[in-house]
Amino acid sequence: MYYIGIDLGTSAVKLLLMEGNGRIANVVSKEYPLYFPHPGWSEQKPEDWYAQTMAGMKELLEGFDKQQVAGISFGGQMHGLVILDREDNVIRPAILWNDGRTSEENDYLNNVIGKETLSAYTANISFTGFTASKLLWVEKNEPENFARIEKIMLPKDYLAYKLTGVHCTDVSDASGMLLFDVKNRRWSKEMCEICHVKETQLAKLYESYETVGCVLPAVAQELGISDTVKVAAGAGDNAAAAVGTGTVGEGRCNISLGTSGTIFISSEKFGVDQNNALHAFAHADGHYHLMGCMLSAASCNKWWMDDIIGTQDYAKEQAAIGKLGENHVYFLPYLMGERSPHNDPDARGTFIGMTMDTTRADMTQAVLEGVAFALRDSFEVAKSLGIRIERTKICGGGAKSPLWKKIIANVMNIKVDVIESEEGPGYGGAMLAAVACGEYASVEEAAEKLVKVVDTVEPEPELAAKYEARYQQFRQIYPTVKALFPKLK
Ligand code: XUL
Repeated sequence: MYYIGIDLGTSAVKLLLMEGNGRIANVVSKEYPLYFPHPGWSEQKPEDWYAQTMAGMKELLEGFDKQQVAGISFGGQMHGLVILDREDNVIRPAILWNDGRTSEENDYLNNVIGKETLSAYTANISFTGFTASKLLWVEKNEPENFARIEKIMLPKDYLAYKLTGVHCTDVSDASGMLLFDVKNRRWSKEMCEICHVKETQLAKLYESYETVGCVLPAVAQELGISDTVKVAAGAGDNAAAAVGTGTVGEGRCNISLGTSGTIFISSEKFGVDQNNALHAFAHADGHYHLMGCMLSAASCNKWWMDDIIGTQDYAKEQAAIGKLGENHVYFLPYLMGERSPHNDPDARGTFIGMTMDTTRADMTQAVLEGVAFALRDSFEVAKSLGIRIERTKICGGGAKSPLWKKIIANVMNIKVDVIESEEGPGYGGAMLAAVACGEYASVEEAAEKLVKVVDTVEPEPELAAKYEARYQQFRQIYPTVKALFPKLK
């Protein structure tokens, strides 16, 4: 049988066709526009997601026996606010996870309602990217749109709705709304009141590996698949990537170098970081996880390569990098503000330390290192909670670079396990579909049988020591320049 994993990303939807034994039979990617209507705002059209997903699925299945497709599921960009009216029309473009417009609403939630209260209700505090502050923003700035809201959804849930007709979400993605009681895996009545929404406007909750329904007959016909194909709820892209890299059960770690950068730690028990610098979310395996999320990771390198130095040849630029651990140029990767651990939508990208002999390669290196240092900031928070991590998996577009993996291993001073497939969320989505269809008894069983480590990047003591000294310098830069950022508008 075949299982389709849909990774609804920020730059593109990536579709993956997996055989029951885990072999990847085909992968297709379809792009769509990302809109920045104001500096720091970030939007996409849900209609584009669906159109490109359908086009992608048709291409994905070309030349394969479509009647063998048994299940579909998702890993989706998290936190985005999708609102539908009474006729299930999209009311306005989705406000995405990396949108920073809700500073005021974010401050209201954290300072007036209060972080302790938020944490007691949801296990988390507010970040501008989270969904709750966006609802308050729409209520204040677009009251006519707010009044029309019949259903509130997350990005991948819009796809599930279009495929099945069911308004559903899953516990991992719901965790990032700040409307969800993570510990008890249910909507928070208190948060609904605070955000002026009714529970009936929210979607029905599922575990990620549960079936929400079958594809609608019209969808089945358009794709040439059976109308008995099951659709599983799926997961937020980070939880799906964790499934796809075998980061399930107790104490495992995954780093994702995508548009965002995340460090994800799975846990069998519910736990909260006292300062809420890390997110405490439900996991797609039925348990929990902690996560630090930086808003711009591989996207910093893409911006530097494509937009600033104007090249597509990333490997050639990286080949010119020689002096690891000795760079005197630093880069703060806060091109969209920053989430973990600073929670600062005003933070901005910054190069510092250049001299007349600074080269293009030094600047490229600083971008790669800046992302690694910023991830280490979240890793330090995890360590301060007593969590011991000696190795991590890695996935996402940035994980294709051997140099970046080496930098990560040495900046963090941990082993980086490279797995057979770097298609984290898409592969995880297909695995969740396979579990929903009974091909595997549990997410853990699927992960154990399907995820294979093919290489390990070990930290080198001398290089790790050099990076330790560099990191101690890096971590002083943001506190020193922080006060300037709000004035740079
Ligand atoms: C996680 C987050 C990002 C998006 C990217 O909290 O905001 O990783 O899910 O797609």
